[in-house]
Amino acid sequence: SMVLKQFSDLSFSIPEEMKRESVIGNIAKDLGVDPRTLALRQARVDFGGGRKRYCDIKLNTGDLIASERIDRESLCGKKPSCVLKVDLVLENPLELHRVSLHIQDVNDNSPQFNDNLIEMEIRESADKGNRFSIEEAHDADIGQNAVQRYNLQKNDNFILAVDSNKVELVLENTLDREKQKELNLLLTALDGGSPQRSGTVVIHVTVLDANDNAPVFSQAVYKASLPENSPPDTVVIKVSATDADEGVNGDVTYQFGHVSDEDVNVFSIDPKTGEIRVTGVIDFEERSSFETRVKAKDGLGLTSYAKVIIDVTDINDNAPVIYLKSLSNPIPENVSPGTEVGIINVQDRDSETNGQVRCSIQQNVPFKLVSSIKSYFTLVTTGQLDRELVSDYNITITATDEGSPPLSSSKTVQLSVADINDNPPVFEEQSYSAYVTENNKPGSTLCSVSARDPDWRQNGTVIYSLLPGEVNGAPVSSYLSVNGDTGVIHAVRSFDYEQFRSFKVQVMARDNGSPPLSSNVTVSVFISDVNDNSPQILYPGPEGNSFMTELVPKAAHGGSLVSKVIAVDADSGQNAWLSYHIVKSTDPGLFSIGLHSGEIRTQRDISESDSMKQNLIVSVKDNGQPSLSATCSMYLLISDNLAEVPELKDISYDEKNSKLTSYLIIALVSVSTFFLTFIIIILGVRFCRRRKLLFDGAVAIPSAYLPPNYADVDGTGTLRSTYNYDAYLTTGSRTSDFKFVTSYNDNTLPADQTLRESPSDFAEAFGQSEESPELKRLSWAVSR
Ligand SMILES: *[C@@H]1O[C@H](CO)[C@@H](O)[C@H](O)[C@H]1NC(C)=O
Ligand SMILES: *[C@@H]1O[C@H](CO)[C@@H](O)[C@H](O)[C@H]1NC(C)=O
Ligand SMILES: *[C@@H]1O[C@H](CO)[C@@H](O)[C@H](O)[C@H]1NC(C)=O
Repeated sequence: SMVLKQFSDLSFSIPEEMKRESVIGNIAKDLGVDPRTLALRQARVDFGGGRKRYCDIKLNTGDLIASERIDRESLCGKKPSCVLKVDLVLENPLELHRVSLHIQDVNDNSPQFNDNLIEMEIRESADKGNRFSIEEAHDADIGQNAVQRYNLQKNDNFILAVDSNKVELVLENTLDREKQKELNLLLTALDGGSPQRSGTVVIHVTVLDANDNAPVFSQAVYKASLPENSPPDTVVIKVSATDADEGVNGDVTYQFGHVSDEDVNVFSIDPKTGEIRVTGVIDFEERSSFETRVKAKDGLGLTSYAKVIIDVTDINDNAPVIYLKSLSNPIPENVSPGTEVGIINVQDRDSETNGQVRCSIQQNVPFKLVSSIKSYFTLVTTGQLDRELVSDYNITITATDEGSPPLSSSKTVQLSVADINDNPPVFEEQSYSAYVTENNKPGSTLCSVSARDPDWRQNGTVIYSLLPGEVNGAPVSSYLSVNGDTGVIHAVRSFDYEQFRSFKVQVMARDNGSPPLSSNVTVSVFISDVNDNSPQILYPGPEGNSFMTELVPKAAHGGSLVSKVIAVDADSGQNAWLSYHIVKSTDPGLFSIGLHSGEIRTQRDISESDSMKQNLIVSVKDNGQPSLSATCSMYLLISDNLAEVPELKDISYDEKNSKLTSYLIIALVSVSTFFLTFIIIILGVRFCRRRKLLFDGAVAIPSAYLPPNYADVDGTGTLRSTYNYDAYLTTGSRTSDFKFVTSYNDNTLPADQTLRESPSDFAEAFGQSEESPELKRLSWAVSR
């Protein structure tokens, strides 16, 4: 039953955020109440339940004071008017007064952005004029104290457009991510308070990429040099393009542009790395350069192109090749030095020095290469050829290029030398000797001559013939014939040693060339003796034809020479070597005959009892094989007077006997002449060579030179051939040899006794020859 009496409303306008105890107003005054009663009346402000007591009454003064911070923004927010209603209660009487506190805004808040940093992402492709909203700043204050304007830091791209609290960034210049990936813009919001407050925010703009860049090659033209024959997988060059874009947009792949069909397998390009590699065969000789385009493409298909020029460098991979363009084969051996024989062409597919070729042939052949026009060579002889020396040449031509390492090849040219008849036949011996025994059969082979001619075929075919000539006045063809093909010489007839002992003929060897060449050789034919003549007894004459009687003095002592059988033999040598034997005698003990002298001597003194008529049959044998013999009868009359034998008186000496006598005289004279000549020569030699010379040499005669059975020879008959008794009288200086043949006459020498030889023997022999009637013969010859 309280009556509430509301009197009036009190209204105060106060700024927010007053200090505590600040006086808002005096309610006592305003209400017209005595302030002293206020306490009594329990004056108080009432804020309702729980609320903050923003103000209070100072009871002693009646002042309304702020008791609590009053924040308009928290009380009223953005309301334009902020009124805090307070009930003022008085009791006794109870009075209720409404007090309105008009709280005035104070610029106590700065404009504020939600965040310190605004992240924005703007694609670089954004067009000019595009707008990007920015969350506006807010200010708890109101009115002028709230945000009034914005300020954007100056930049190249954006301007600010503020429109009824809508804040926008306007793209004034387009972005380029590639130039600037991000930018920070400082945006300031300003209020209108005083003092003015502001708030800022950083707008971080990330420029997003747009595929606005094509890949760009690092070079417009790539040049590479590639040795030929580079193996597959060799990296030739690496192209590279960059794309300023990011991500897929900047992902560059490479590929070839248009490639001709023939090059398609030669190179490959790595799509990722841009490495160009060899995949095929690179042959400089086929292709010395390649040109192609490469394409770089980014993820979204922007492309660009570059040119790749690959120069292939030459490698010395081709050996020279030798071509034989012409060849004269065979060439005659008489071509003069410098004759052109062949033409050679050399080719090398490589270039420059790799293709420059030097050509040579081996030494030791009489050929050389002469370089004529480029890469052509002529093969020329350098010396005289001789088919007989070298008939074939394998000429090896070597061509070497000047590459490094050099390559070479060679070719062998076979060249034959054709024959020219330039060699006469040549006999193998300077002269030929043929030995034939007499009485040969006609047609028998004497010897053969042989000549060689190294020429070819008919130029070297030798034909033999006898040159015309005479032997003993008869044409040689009647003596000999020669086989034209074989050179075998035949006797045409039988020869007689006793007729002639040797002769010479000329044989010609001629080849079959045209013109033919020939040479001559002398063939000496020596005929040797055959025992074809029996000893011929000269004295005594043959039985029946003549009848001779020798007188033997009755007083003859033993050893007296009674008579002599004289025989000759037409043969020579041993065939004429005669021996004498008594084959039958009246009184075998009375007479003996010298084995080789034929001298008949008494063996003992004649006695009265001996028969007056003595008859001897003597056989004369030569030493031939078989030996021939003759016999004769010797009649001896032991008497001092021929008249005592009347039956012998009518013995007449016929012509034969006188002939025989003259023969003996001739033989004696000639032998003496020989002997004298010999002595003269001996003496001459002795004077020339000083003392002893002859005898020194003579001592050298060994017994072996003498036939064992014939140390004693007769002085008659023919000259013996020299081989039986050759003794070499050698001078001390050996500058000349003096050779003589001697026959020894020593009938006291028994057959089986060795011949003694000494200088004194010679001297004795010479002495004896003067006092003895016996025939001695010395023949001599000077050799050389
Ligand atoms: C040349 O070569 C041929 C074949 O290789 C060979 O038969 C001949 O003997 C050679 N000639 C010479 C003179 O080397
Ligand atoms: C023989 O030599 C002549 C020239 O002297 C030559 O013309 C001829 O061809 C040669 N004969 C042979 C078979 O070589
Ligand atoms: C060989 O002898 C004949 C005849 O005397 C002569 O014509 C020829 O020239 C001679 N030959 C030689 C090589 O001497």
